[in-house]
Amino acid sequence: MTTLWSLYVSVLTLGTLVGLTWLLLSTRKGQREDTTEDTVGHAFDGIEEYDNPLPKWWFWLFVATLVFAVGYLVLYPGLGNWRGILPGYAYLDNDKRTEFATGDSGWSGVHEWEKEMARANARFGPLYARYAAMPVEAVAQDPKAVQMGARLFASNCSVCHGSDAKGAFGFPNLTDDVWRWGGEPETIKASILNGRHGVMPGWAAVIGDQGVADVAAFVLTGLNGRRLPEGANADADNGQKLFATNCVACHGAEGKGTPMLGAPDLTRPAAFIYGSSFAQLQQTIRYGRQGQMPAQAQLQGNDKVHVLAAYVYSLSHPPKDGE
Ligand code: HEC
Ligand code: HEC
Repeated sequence: MTTLWSLYVSVLTLGTLVGLTWLLLSTRKGQREDTTEDTVGHAFDGIEEYDNPLPKWWFWLFVATLVFAVGYLVLYPGLGNWRGILPGYAYLDNDKRTEFATGDSGWSGVHEWEKEMARANARFGPLYARYAAMPVEAVAQDPKAVQMGARLFASNCSVCHGSDAKGAFGFPNLTDDVWRWGGEPETIKASILNGRHGVMPGWAAVIGDQGVADVAAFVLTGLNGRRLPEGANADADNGQKLFATNCVACHGAEGKGTPMLGAPDLTRPAAFIYGSSFAQLQQTIRYGRQGQMPAQAQLQGNDKVHVLAAYVYSLSHPPKDGE
């Protein structure tokens, strides 16, 4: 934080505390000590207010919160660049971070978390490293590794891909045999390690709304073998021509997709992540789509990603019996 922001935050925080103290004392001044049946004189919808002092317990509770706030701000970081007097938080000054990674120089939430991670790495690191030295397919046969992968998946991947890895709107199913970027063990690992960014351009400006409807009709009928909804105004034959000029570059001459580009197989509507109805197809084609798989290399490191890849691989290649 720059000094200016630091000052701004400090003045705002301390100003609020001072202001509240003033408010508390000023409303108390001149107030009666005893309770009364008199009212303060105003009425809202017939509701009146007794002219009684604040309850003592309430007053002292308020004072206690103010004292707590001051104590907190002295001990912990809260006022701009002030680090608090607890030693652990000096550690959060970035240049000193590594010094503390294993040492015991005071308590802070981040510090505790890093110590816990270091302990877990010391304990499980060698195990992950052993798996990382094996081919992904082999790891996928190891029940213990698959269990570890499942746990990693639950905490890092299920928010998007679902706890059963079957995907959701916008997020691919990882348990079937249809892959956008390829289902080879090493390709799956690359998807997880480096992330993926699928870019499907929008076509409204290029082929117009009628063109969008026509080409969607071709995907629906020509590639997916389904029927157009009743009364749909679309020409699938024209759509086929539009497909040949505009779509094959990425989706391939037969619409079977190009894994290098993450362009999906358009002949497998059950695996479409943006829906396969006539309306949804038009939506996708009109505006385009940009699916993002976040890279895990920094977050998990190679060895955990290796185990994750094995887990994902195992979902569509269940371990063989007797192994
Ligand atoms: C530049 C390459 C490129 C071109 C050209 C292209 N697409 Fe795509 N398309 C993609 C990619 C990449 C995706 C995946 C987007 C994602 O994952 O978010 C995609 C996704 C789709 C989907 C969604 C599939 C799903 O899983 O829901 C449909 C439908 C589609 N394209 C149809 C078309 C049609 C029709 C055309 C021609 C008008 C076309 N695409 C042209 C690259 C392309
Ligand atoms: C923020 C949401 C999000 C998270 C978290 C996430 N993914 Fe993904 N993932 C996606 C999206 C979106 C795609 C599809 C990208 C595209 O459009 O091509 C994807 C694609 C993939 C693919 C490629 C699928 C294919 O068909 O080729 C794999 C494998 C994968 N994710 C595994 C994982 C694993 C393992 C994790 C946990 C470490 C994870 N993902 C976490 C959103 C996510």
